[in-house]
Amino acid sequence: MEGEDKALSHLRSEGDLNLSPRRATWTEQNLDPETQQWLAEDARYFLHQSLSTPCLNVLQGCQGSYIEDLQGNRLLDFHGNNVHQVGFGHPRVIEAIIAQLHSLSFCTRRYTNLPAIQLAKKLAELAPGNLNKVLFAPGGSSAIGMALKLARMATGRFKTLSFWDSFHGASLDAISIGGEAIFRKGIGPLLPGTEHVPPPDPQHCLWDCGGVCDLRCARYVEYVLEKEGDVAAVIAETVRSTPYIPPPGYWETVRAACDRHGALLILDEIPHCLGRTGKMFSCQHYDVVPDMLVIGKGLGGGIFPLAALIARETLDVAADRALGHYTHEKNPVACAAGLATIEILEEEGLIEHAREMGEYALEQLRARLAGSRLVGDIRGLGLLMGIELSDGASGTRATDAAEAVMYRALARGLNFKVTMGNIITLTPPLTITREEMDEALAILVRCLAEVEAETEGA
Ligand SMILES: Cc1ncc(COP(=O)(O)O)c(C=O)c1O
Repeated sequence: MEGEDKALSHLRSEGDLNLSPRRATWTEQNLDPETQQWLAEDARYFLHQSLSTPCLNVLQGCQGSYIEDLQGNRLLDFHGNNVHQVGFGHPRVIEAIIAQLHSLSFCTRRYTNLPAIQLAKKLAELAPGNLNKVLFAPGGSSAIGMALKLARMATGRFKTLSFWDSFHGASLDAISIGGEAIFRKGIGPLLPGTEHVPPPDPQHCLWDCGGVCDLRCARYVEYVLEKEGDVAAVIAETVRSTPYIPPPGYWETVRAACDRHGALLILDEIPHCLGRTGKMFSCQHYDVVPDMLVIGKGLGGGIFPLAALIARETLDVAADRALGHYTHEKNPVACAAGLATIEILEEEGLIEHAREMGEYALEQLRARLAGSRLVGDIRGLGLLMGIELSDGASGTRATDAAEAVMYRALARGLNFKVTMGNIITLTPPLTITREEMDEALAILVRCLAEVEAETEGA
């Protein structure tokens, strides 16, 4: 198992492994014969890929904060692929979708429609600064591709600077700027000119900042911009799902460096837009306005695939060329879902709720896990939280323990993913109640204590 684990370790960045021995044991012990039969059918008909097929379980329902499997087990979903800002199946989103389906269910190219115009207008109003030109796409990776093309067209340069360990989508252009081996390994040449720098990760800092970032990593961004001299754009996740939460001053430093070297700043907020971090957009935690903001995931209400590029007005420079040209670029049903989602966020006060509930959860976790041998760091912003597990003595990533905690929690009704191999990553819906949060925290604390006790002296 040791050797096998090592061979799989490069896959552990984006999520937990679907090929690990623990997964096989969990499946055997927790899933009934009918579910196992469906999983076999899934494996028979889908192309296999990491983090997906073979799948974990079969779902038959999702509502509010919960997913429900085929055996009727309900799990609090603290993963939800970050699409569930308004919870699963919010009745107002469903109503908006049904109403739209009854009138205009698709918008043929060359035409526009009211939900698309209204959603673009709403996003332009909400986005900071002069970010007020929008293009929709059917997914985040495609929206990232549009941003990369626009950066080339607007600057006449082609190079980009992005971050190791980052994720911007699974298409070839997106994996070129992404920084995860699971997507980049063994795939052949990627886009030229895609330079990478280390992420702002004080727990594993190349400059040994000792857990307190002193912005040397931000200054290194400027160093590379200067050396290269012709970078079109710096592209990064404002906060990374893992999470890495850059300290105050980080983006201000990078923004200033971009301005000095003629590079655009593109911030990818696909998973955390619309309130997850306690602000409508994560960049609003920093005193910066990017040149382009890319959002997605929950924009379609957790139901429709929908993403958007929101660019600064003066970047509207490609009228004679194609930036997107996606078949569903003005899908009225997706846009109706998006409009309903933003209305719900505003009217139900979900962004404020995310901020308060995130603070509460972090406080609880810090108090209840203080002194835990396995817990190396607890961090978060709004309802994006992470618990980093490390082996006390050596400080190395406690990947096995993190997986053990995850499978225990699954069996008790809590779903979350593990990123970077050792970070328990928690992203509940913004609609989560105090009772649901308490239930999830109790499961988590108990599972961690059990794994810690079992690994004592190991
Ligand atoms: C930061 C980030 N960028 C881009 C993407 C890609 O979005 P999509 O899966 O909709 O293509 C994701 C998806 O997880 C993401 O987390």
